[in-house]
Amino acid sequence: MLARMLVRLMDAQGFWTRPLGDLAFRFLHWLFGLMPAIRDLLIGRWLGHPLHAVLTDAPIGILFLVIVFDVLGNQGAATVTLAVGVLAMLAAALAGFADYADTDGKARERATLHSSLMLLALLGYLISLALRLGSNPAPSGGGVLLSVLSFLVLSAAAYVGGDVVYVLGNMVNRHAFRGAGTKWIALEPAELAGDEIPEGRLVKAKLDINQLVLVRQGEQILALHDTCAHAGGPLNEGRLIDGRLVECPWHASRYRLSDGLVVQGPSVYDQPSYEVRRREGGGWEARRRA
Ligand code: FES
Repeated sequence: MLARMLVRLMDAQGFWTRPLGDLAFRFLHWLFGLMPAIRDLLIGRWLGHPLHAVLTDAPIGILFLVIVFDVLGNQGAATVTLAVGVLAMLAAALAGFADYADTDGKARERATLHSSLMLLALLGYLISLALRLGSNPAPSGGGVLLSVLSFLVLSAAAYVGGDVVYVLGNMVNRHAFRGAGTKWIALEPAELAGDEIPEGRLVKAKLDINQLVLVRQGEQILALHDTCAHAGGPLNEGRLIDGRLVECPWHASRYRLSDGLVVQGPSVYDQPSYEVRRREGGGWEARRRA
């Protein structure tokens, strides 16, 4: 009941989150497109996990301590903690903006609401910090009140951010529930040149309930799951690069065909990879690598 009410409330913000989100997206997509290595660092490709999710816990915990120090009457500790919390917020925001640069649709609207609330909380904290520093060593009533209000806004923003991930599935691994298989299963390529899989280009294939993308190189057939781990783009419609990599058509993540390693974001997850061999009696069979 409460969740439905909150969803309605968030959806009602679409009239401003949609246009603002589109504008911010265009700018951030362009900006991070100029520096893909920085984007990959900030999204956490090196970690194999979204970095924003790791960094967001720090400011929330630190900024809660500000309230604790205020209640205990330790003005100095509250001010220092607030300054550290603001720095932690900025670090989390950088990683969040890198994620945002490749976020589409409803998730982008929600992410816009999330980041707008976070910026509002950040503004409140900065004013609170200025008031505290201005009144030092006497306690600043306005500064304390503002940091409490900012924490409430921060909590609401964190709720919306959780919605972007847990409800809308942004930045989650699209293969989270796909286990490795030990059984060889008949592979059905969507196109054949004579009896062979066409060489040197991306070919779609069906493996039971899964869709794969194949590249044949002589006798060797490299195969990945067709659904991009980032947001579900169809890899078979992407680009083959140097015969070694496949680039997703949606946001240009790149995976190594030999083992599915992600070598360029925005995906932070590897792509499921498959072994393919000729089948006795003709055709091919495949199974997922462990
Ligand atoms: S769906 Fe985003 S890079 Fe593939």
